[in-house]
Amino acid sequence: MKTIFDVIACPVCSGPLRIKEKSLVCGAGHSFDIASSGYVNLLPPGRKNNAVTGDRRDLVRARTRFLGTGLYDAVSDAAAELVLLATDGGEPVFADFGCGEGYHTCSIAQRVRSSRGSVVAVGIDASKYAAEAGAKRAAGRGFSSFSESGENALSFVAGNFFTPPIAEDSLSCVVSMFAPVAYDACLSTLRRDGAIVVVFPGPDHLIEIREKIYPEVRREERSLDPPPEFCETEKRQTKYSARLAGDEELSDLLGMTPFFCRIPVSAKERVLSSGLRDVTVDVTSVLLVRR
Ligand SMILES: C[S@@+](CC[C@H](N)C(=O)[O-])C[C@H]1O[C@@H](n2cnc3c(N)ncnc32)[C@H](O)[C@@H]1O
Repeated sequence: MKTIFDVIACPVCSGPLRIKEKSLVCGAGHSFDIASSGYVNLLPPGRKNNAVTGDRRDLVRARTRFLGTGLYDAVSDAAAELVLLATDGGEPVFADFGCGEGYHTCSIAQRVRSSRGSVVAVGIDASKYAAEAGAKRAAGRGFSSFSESGENALSFVAGNFFTPPIAEDSLSCVVSMFAPVAYDACLSTLRRDGAIVVVFPGPDHLIEIREKIYPEVRREERSLDPPPEFCETEKRQTKYSARLAGDEELSDLLGMTPFFCRIPVSAKERVLSSGLRDVTVDVTSVLLVRR
């Protein structure tokens, strides 16, 4: 049976990591503390102390509050269905590249575990705040992170998905939700029969918010353009209207959007004073299977 120690790798020398007291240690002696929350900082050396790598703590909290409303659960479900398809017939071992605070990662891992009886999964995010929140969430849902046996684990690490601390050919699936797809890293970490589940916004996603920000809204279908090693075998659209309970939810949702950091304060104020309550969720989920 696969364990988390077949999956994670030293970010310095790529050697396998083992648990030693409250640290992960590789054969060359590189050592990484397991925080009390259960996450481990495996960011490449030189970036380990950069507290602003990845999402800020306030944005992580906004995402945690919003996802906790359950308004994006259908999005988790759509991703989980494709992960189940991707790992059909083998041991489910997946990594979530850019997992944020692990809401979707935990939901997918729970769904896979209840359907297959076991799962080994790791959430990777450049933000240590996100990885920490993910580890707490996983513990709350009854997952072990780095137990002695390493079986049936859901672990969260701070790491860079372009150079992930993951062993070569170890994964049956990579999940990439609302984040850039690191195809080269997928190719090196996925097994020959592995697959990528990519989830990204469709043309009408949060169109009501975008209409308040931009004078003209472009409704473009994003094309993934995967490298020739991958072929698209499934594409699903999840589209529905979600009702926000109030301005706090609107503010948290705005904080989760990719445009939040680049729009002027006046545009944010326009959205937040609009009283908007009904927003369209329009999300595309694609399964890319390795040829
Ligand atoms: C838009 S959020 C999506 C989070 C999560 N997948 C979700 O759907 O809720 C993108 C995430 O990618 C992370 N990220 C960005 N660049 C990264 C990198 N090079 N390596 C790891 N994580 C990264 C950010 O910190 C952020 O948490």
